[in-house]
Amino acid sequence: MTTIELTDDEFAKFCELIYRAAGIRIADSKRIMVGNRLRRRLRATGIANFTDYYKFLTSAAGAGEMPQFLDAMTTNETYFFRDPQHYQWLGGEFLPDLARSAAMRRSPRRLRIWSAACSTGEDPSSMAIEVAAKRPILAGWDIRILGTDISGAALAEARAGRYDARALRLVEPARRLAFFDEDAISERWAIKADLRGLVSWKLHNLLMPLREEPFDCIFIKNVLIYFDKDSKHVVVRNLLAALAPGGYLVVGPTEGVYNMLEPLEKRKTWLFRKAGG
Ligand SMILES: C[S@@+](CC[C@H](N)C(=O)[O-])C[C@H]1O[C@@H](n2cnc3c(N)ncnc32)[C@H](O)[C@@H]1O
Repeated sequence: MTTIELTDDEFAKFCELIYRAAGIRIADSKRIMVGNRLRRRLRATGIANFTDYYKFLTSAAGAGEMPQFLDAMTTNETYFFRDPQHYQWLGGEFLPDLARSAAMRRSPRRLRIWSAACSTGEDPSSMAIEVAAKRPILAGWDIRILGTDISGAALAEARAGRYDARALRLVEPARRLAFFDEDAISERWAIKADLRGLVSWKLHNLLMPLREEPFDCIFIKNVLIYFDKDSKHVVVRNLLAALAPGGYLVVGPTEGVYNMLEPLEKRKTWLFRKAGG
């Protein structure tokens, strides 16, 4: 059987479509990867070639295929406690400081955290573990962690909350026992129900404003590396609008947006705070 190849023109058209839909710039070096991922969609839809698939995708009849196309095109690599210093700060500084200042000011014991572009959920679930580990000082608090992503398939896995040992490679044994139930047959680890109750999930495109109440802390990590300057600016504007006065923004090591964060006070190379609060 001969394998059909993606032509220059087809590759350019799909790249432009991904850019418009998600802000992601696909490098020329990713052409084979894009071809392979598109071939999976050809098989799934029964469409014979890339040009017909493009026509279908961009037609009114193909609107329902767009989510599957974006699922296929996004890179969802993630794992628990990726960039460990962010979680050490969350559990070791942010949560204790918040509890102290709420006690002093008698302000509402309320916490909202957003994990933007959370993929299969390891980031928000790591946050939930840090929150659960601080239960004694957060007793009675109204806490909600929101995980969002553009990929519905990734979010479906996040909702299921079952992970293999690879995803848990940075989770200490004591925490595995405390916060997960092991299924010896499938060799997967399920997040305990009370932790899952802390997190909700939502399909969301970073290019669009998020219509939610303001967040005390937002994590944006390992996603904007794929965005160009213009789409990074749009995302940063949306993130800043979603941050509560006094709220913190945690930025991944490869986002490349440090020079777009002037309205925020820089606390560490990766930690920024909005004025007020
Ligand atoms: C490599 S994962 C990073 C996951 C996690 N934040 C981490 O640091 O491990 C990147 C995620 O960004 C998502 N993504 C890409 N473009 C997006 C967009 N425009 N809006 C929302 N999510 C997007 C992808 O679907 C993917 O799940």
